[in-house]
Amino acid sequence: MRVKKHRITLIPGDGIGPEVMKPTVKLIKAAGVNVEWDSHLAGAEALKKHGTTLPKQLMDSFAKNKVALKGPVTTPVGEGFASVNVELRQSFDLYANLRPVKNLPGVKARYENVDLIVVRENTEGLYSGIEHEVVPGVMESLKIITDKASTRIAKFAFNYARANRRKKVAFIHKANIMKLTDGLFLQCARNVAQKYRTIGFSDLIVDNACLQLVLDPTRFDVLLLENLYGDIVSDLAAGLVGGLGVVPGANLGDTHALFESVHGSAPDIKGKNIANPTAVILAAVMMLEHISEKKAATRISAALLTVLGRGDRLTPDLGGSASTTQFADAIRREIEK
Ligand code: NAI
Repeated sequence: MRVKKHRITLIPGDGIGPEVMKPTVKLIKAAGVNVEWDSHLAGAEALKKHGTTLPKQLMDSFAKNKVALKGPVTTPVGEGFASVNVELRQSFDLYANLRPVKNLPGVKARYENVDLIVVRENTEGLYSGIEHEVVPGVMESLKIITDKASTRIAKFAFNYARANRRKKVAFIHKANIMKLTDGLFLQCARNVAQKYRTIGFSDLIVDNACLQLVLDPTRFDVLLLENLYGDIVSDLAAGLVGGLGVVPGANLGDTHALFESVHGSAPDIKGKNIANPTAVILAAVMMLEHISEKKAATRISAALLTVLGRGDRLTPDLGGSASTTQFADAIRREIEK
């Protein structure tokens, strides 16, 4: 039987990015998936070499391939270039940010039985990038919320819930204070909910949602949030199950999909071969499901869970002393068994 060949854009990123991406690419190969990777620099490295953080070659490659796997990219605070992540999301209209947050075997966490899905609107809100100086000493940032984007993300959350046998969606907002913007987001979510009679829904104010999440995360199923709250709450949620090193993310649009680890470039451990590749491996698993390589996705995730559960090849962030390479090699051996 001829194995289907996939052409996928690879963005190794910087910092620990290349260290976690390299073994992940090897695992995909070990699972029998035929991928022609089209690798491109982004961020500071690309700026040095191409004079821009998102070179045209990268944008053209992703435009054509429609699927990308991305490592973390450093974004300097308060100066320099705009966030590569925000630009990619906006350029390819990757409006849905999906982050599954689940306990993993062998990963110590504050809670057990957490299994929630964070759905974040990815294109507007306070990330619209419309900021200016009103007068010296006074800055203004505009929060844009539209009926179109709010309805679209609510439909995404409910469709996801229906396709994945999820039971309820919680809308998280601050409509008590931001009556027009968050009020519109909430109203759109409520309107969409009426069309999905088998899925329950509720709404919570974002501060209360954070409290409830740390008191008992198991009461939540799918969470639906606008951009800024989604950014913050999804990291909080990752903390419930062991941190950013073990949680993947997908940025999805109607035509394009970008899969990534949600952690940053971890400059403090760069080059030490101790970064945990779990998040990017799980992102790769989501990507393989997306491109209909479900068998390979299952093989990789089963091997990863076996190695994590055994606990003898964990990276230092999980309390072990294995290197990135030793951990990834143990997973590869499981895949090849
Ligand atoms: P970070 O996620 O890079 O690091 C936070 C802490 O977690 C550090 O102690 C780091 O060593 C640890 N850590 C992160 N990933 C790990 C892994 N896979 N294995 C073991 N330990 C891990 O967050 P920070 O320091 O706030 O950001 C550093 C840079 O990354 C910044 O420039 C930021 O803008 C960028 N960033 C990029 C993201 C992306 O490209 N998706 C997401 C978040 C931040």
